[in-house]
Amino acid sequence: MSGIRRPADGLTWRTGVAPGALPLLGHVPALWRYPLEFLASLPAHGDLVELRLGPNRAYLAAHPELVREVLLNPRVYDKGGVFDKARQLLGNSLSVSRGEEHRFQRRLIQPAFRPAKIAAYTSAVAADTRRVTDSWRSGETQDISDTMHALLMRVAARTLFSAGLDDALIEEARRCLRTVSHGIYKRTMAPLGIMEKLPTPANRAYARANGRLRQIVADMIARRGRSETGQEDLLATLLQAEHPETGEKLDDRQVLDQVITFLVAGSETTASTLAFVFHLMGTLPEVEKQVHAEVDEALRDRTPGYDDLPGLPYTRSVITEALRLYPPSWMAMRVTTQDVGLGGRTVPAGTMILYSAYALHHNPALFPDPEHFDPGRWEGDRLAQVPRGALLPFGAGTHKCIGDVLALTETALIVATVAARWRLRPVPGTRLRLEPKATLEAGPLPMVLERR
Ligand code: HEM
Repeated sequence: MSGIRRPADGLTWRTGVAPGALPLLGHVPALWRYPLEFLASLPAHGDLVELRLGPNRAYLAAHPELVREVLLNPRVYDKGGVFDKARQLLGNSLSVSRGEEHRFQRRLIQPAFRPAKIAAYTSAVAADTRRVTDSWRSGETQDISDTMHALLMRVAARTLFSAGLDDALIEEARRCLRTVSHGIYKRTMAPLGIMEKLPTPANRAYARANGRLRQIVADMIARRGRSETGQEDLLATLLQAEHPETGEKLDDRQVLDQVITFLVAGSETTASTLAFVFHLMGTLPEVEKQVHAEVDEALRDRTPGYDDLPGLPYTRSVITEALRLYPPSWMAMRVTTQDVGLGGRTVPAGTMILYSAYALHHNPALFPDPEHFDPGRWEGDRLAQVPRGALLPFGAGTHKCIGDVLALTETALIVATVAARWRLRPVPGTRLRLEPKATLEAGPLPMVLERR
């Protein structure tokens, strides 16, 4: 058993127990019915908070240093639990593989996400966005959550495959992806694994969507072939990727699993971020004004590219603050592989350890006035006041999001391109209703499009 660690400053960890456990079910109903409020309430009870999930004991690592300890020690805190189920659905791809297999895949795939590659993949993001916004009519209303999801699917298709997917196919892939991603969430969270095997309409729709999505992607990969060179997209990098030591490559099935994983992990998360950003800009005129001023000054009506990002610091702070307030990946978990000392407790092997970006980001001890949207937190001297590990939208350690820079680049380019010409006004009476699913979603957000 590894030793019990204590905070560096000599204080002891605060351990606590989450209140309100129900007989038999424990905290499962709270996590199902109002997960965000429940998770955000837990840091008040300790740095490490014990929960009951049915008959099992689990813990929330609520202090950023404890979260780091969990995420930086993957041999002790492994991807078990829901990831075991997700593996059946996503193949043994990057987001669900473990141990040696994960290290192997990560070394092979990481070069595909180098900055120079990202600059190339994202070279058409602004043009794709412009093509979509050119079809907008001033005064019309659109559900911006839906619009951003459709746009992101188009951008993801371009990033992965350069070209070659027509609009109808992108729309079909998007519908399939939505059904698949909701299905994966339901299946990984289902306690027994029985309901999803029954031939219900929802289960049949899931199986159909999953099969069709895999078919669309497999066709794209087959059409490309391994011999074709010269494309600057993610698929080309995956097909050519070689392990630096062994020279091994991914086989066709592995490439397919990785591409599906990128679509599942990358499109709804990024689309939600954009929906939140436009909602916030639409409701906070001061923020909108500053973004517009910055974009006008930096771009002067040019189409933005990767090299323009340093000239958009305020826009990037707005995106960071949106990721703080509404982190798309709101909760994740690990399972202990051995008895271990964590936060002043001895935690037995096989215990679920939760970490929640939402709980960290809404903790007033880490972010004063946490419900206040304040992009200034990420500027100048104030940046240094944010405790280490307190901002965690992309996780940390060996499983840290591989697409973080890609996502931030796409988001900034899309916000700048839209903001250069459009102002999005929330339809009066619209309320943001957070939907914590596989991703934290914004729900329907009808907004009126106004040409600037
Ligand atoms: C705003 C957008 C995004 C957010 C908030 C986000 C968030 C995250 C988080 C929190 C994790 C770690 C989960 C854990 O600790 O268990 C993760 C992992 C991952 N993400 Fe993202 N992500 C985003 C965009 C993307 C994009 C664009 C891609 C790919 C194109 C991507 C691909 C992945 C993959 C493959 C993993 C697994 C990495 C590994 O285990 O080695 N994500 N993401």
